[in-house]
Amino acid sequence: MDQQPARAEHGVDELRSSRNDRWYPSFHITAPAGWINDPNGLSYFKGRYHVYFQHHPYTSDWGLMHWGHVSSADMVTWRHEPIALAPSTEEDRDGVFSGSAVVSGDDELLVYYTGHRWRNGVNEDEGSLQVQCMAVSDDGISFDKQGVVIDCPENLLHFRDPKVWRMRDRGYMTVGACSSDNRGEIWLYTSENMRNWEFDRVLYRDPDPQTFMVECPDLFPLGDKWVLTFCPMGPEPRQYLGRNTHNAGYIVGNWSPGEEFHRLTDYRPMDWGANYYAPQSFQAPDGRRIALAWMGSFGIPPASQITDGWSGQLTVHRELTLSADNRLLAQPIDELTKLRLTSQDFGAVTLGPNELRVLAENIDAAEVEMEVDLTESTAERVGLAVNKTPDGHETLVGYDDLAQRVFVDRRNSGHGDRGYRAAPCPTGPVRLRVFIDRGSVEVFVNDGAETVSSLIFAADGPRSIELYTESGVATIRRLVVHRLGTIWDGAR
Ligand code: FRU
Repeated sequence: MDQQPARAEHGVDELRSSRNDRWYPSFHITAPAGWINDPNGLSYFKGRYHVYFQHHPYTSDWGLMHWGHVSSADMVTWRHEPIALAPSTEEDRDGVFSGSAVVSGDDELLVYYTGHRWRNGVNEDEGSLQVQCMAVSDDGISFDKQGVVIDCPENLLHFRDPKVWRMRDRGYMTVGACSSDNRGEIWLYTSENMRNWEFDRVLYRDPDPQTFMVECPDLFPLGDKWVLTFCPMGPEPRQYLGRNTHNAGYIVGNWSPGEEFHRLTDYRPMDWGANYYAPQSFQAPDGRRIALAWMGSFGIPPASQITDGWSGQLTVHRELTLSADNRLLAQPIDELTKLRLTSQDFGAVTLGPNELRVLAENIDAAEVEMEVDLTESTAERVGLAVNKTPDGHETLVGYDDLAQRVFVDRRNSGHGDRGYRAAPCPTGPVRLRVFIDRGSVEVFVNDGAETVSSLIFAADGPRSIELYTESGVATIRRLVVHRLGTIWDGAR
């Protein structure tokens, strides 16, 4: 068995000893210390849910990629597991990049990942040499590498992120690629035995010539449709869309094995927040399609990365469904209600123009449920000031009646990147579920019709949540604040 993961474990322990916890998540998955990005290998195996993730265990910056690992029996309480995969072969010498998992029979977990090498041996100047590799485990904890299963096609500078599933006794794999004419594509492979893979077709070519690469593709059925999620690299921002250095979205279509993917919709964002990337889904044993994504940044470094010894966290688990008009809906999984420790129900509330009301004090892990009746409200903006500190720093989360959008505004958050993001919300009422953690906020609008996820780094001092209006009254039909506990089983 590979000795590298154990060595990397010492790296994390060292960083862990000086980790600052002021923004370390209470109920979002991350590593004990160091850097994380994409969720990988989501699966349910031998009675536990497994989440692996891109991880650099030696510093809080992106670097030599490993697979970190957490597991859970119920998707509520999680425990940190030892690092699962580390670079140890020639093919993955510069990184064990993103990938996925499938359960084989009852007793094998097969994972597929990208073995990454810099072509010039040091950096990206001459591109990368990326191959798809496989590893096998009988406990989900330690893995035996099986080597390369798909070599890098000639001349491809980017070729990564295998997402594998099984259907009617065949394996299927999507891989993100930068074509030889520099266009973002998704390639489909198939296999009879999960080890030998054949090229099937280019499943998707992004119509935007600015998109030179598509990262982290995923293809899965919802009802009688198929959803293709992916991360196009290169397009310019457009109004509220594509504002982040890295953005994720989806299209809905029809597909069956051996066929083309026929798109039925335009590209839409998966989430409108400042930090949402590299979503990956899996199917839970009860049939639900559940996705996780990375809340982090390859652009302006998150505040915790600079000073606190850790960077990046995953979203909460989101159940995906499709609306009748082919929109992807994302709702927090039901299990998350088990994190509620105490709940305060404010009932119906009317707030006068420019009023403030304190809802909770000394709180750094919370869920707020709120429904605004727009027919009875005249406020220009109504919402919550979250992670508000005594010196007046706060992040604003609410509804803007002029823009008809739900926003997260970080202009005065405290530390880290600023800017605001906003999702469309053209008709009332506005129902929000807002998950506030020590270093992030996730907003679910109208039963998951839109979501807004952003990292936030509060100023020092105890944090409170306030309700506020701007220039007009707000009628709130329902308002409940839940204090949330932690997902960590035995803090580390
Ligand atoms: C996306 C990504 C993947 C790659 C991994 C490397 O965030 O760039 O394409 O496999 O991260 O860490």
